[in-house]
Amino acid sequence: MAVKLKKLYEGKAKIIYAKTSKEVIATYKNDATAFNNLKKGSIKNKGAINNAISSYLFQILNHCDIPTHFIKKIDKKSQLLKKVDIIPIEVLVRNFFAGSLSKKFGVKEGTQLSDTLIEYCLKSDELGDPHISSEHILNLGLCDLNELELIDEYSLRINDILRSTFYSIGINLVDFKLEFGICKKTDELVLADEISPDTCRLWDLKTNKKLDKDRFRRDLGNIEEAYEEVLNRLNLTI
Ligand code: TMP
Ligand code: ASP
Repeated sequence: MAVKLKKLYEGKAKIIYAKTSKEVIATYKNDATAFNNLKKGSIKNKGAINNAISSYLFQILNHCDIPTHFIKKIDKKSQLLKKVDIIPIEVLVRNFFAGSLSKKFGVKEGTQLSDTLIEYCLKSDELGDPHISSEHILNLGLCDLNELELIDEYSLRINDILRSTFYSIGINLVDFKLEFGICKKTDELVLADEISPDTCRLWDLKTNKKLDKDRFRRDLGNIEEAYEEVLNRLNLTI
């Protein structure tokens, strides 16, 4: 970025800069963390790869009439976004057992769920993102009932769109995490954050090879190659 912009926020994977009062620029980092910052590292080219993948997927969602914060990709590592107030909930959408769900119920990873499952976590590094119920969300005033119903509706529609997008390139969308926000300009509820191999479980349809951040979390090696494979299969470049 040529012009020096004011840094508004630095997260684990992105830095947010002020552009105008209603728009921000997000810059993707190569830093990787897992287990709430307990494990730290860096993945070569991750920022550029995740920016390309997330920009592409958000464009698809915009075209499918899912309201999102995404305006456009600006350069290798940056995007122009509508400024939002993030609702402090992580929405986990699951098609198959994996990760914390497999652990909780002792069910083998890769076992299909009978229906898409939505779970919520409180977005709080200090508390370790605890799982919460819809009653917790409403009681704590994290959002209101209309917003929560819309979050569920959008999450299921997003799941349908992303599942078929990944299926068409030979990838099984096992699960993923979404975040929503309220747009500063329009007061509208919009999808925010990113959708990338950092925030999804993506398994090769034929071999079940993991093409996502579990390779980093579980020390499986070939992390950059896995992220690159998703990029290449989507026909994108950095
Ligand atoms: P989990 O099995 O660890 O609960 O994760 C479910 C999905 O959500 C998985 O695709 C990883 C993603 N996720 C994030 O992107 N960020 C997070 O902080 C957590 C807990 C999960
Ligand atoms: N993103 C979270 C962290 O950095 C958790 C994860 O993705 O595993 O701790």
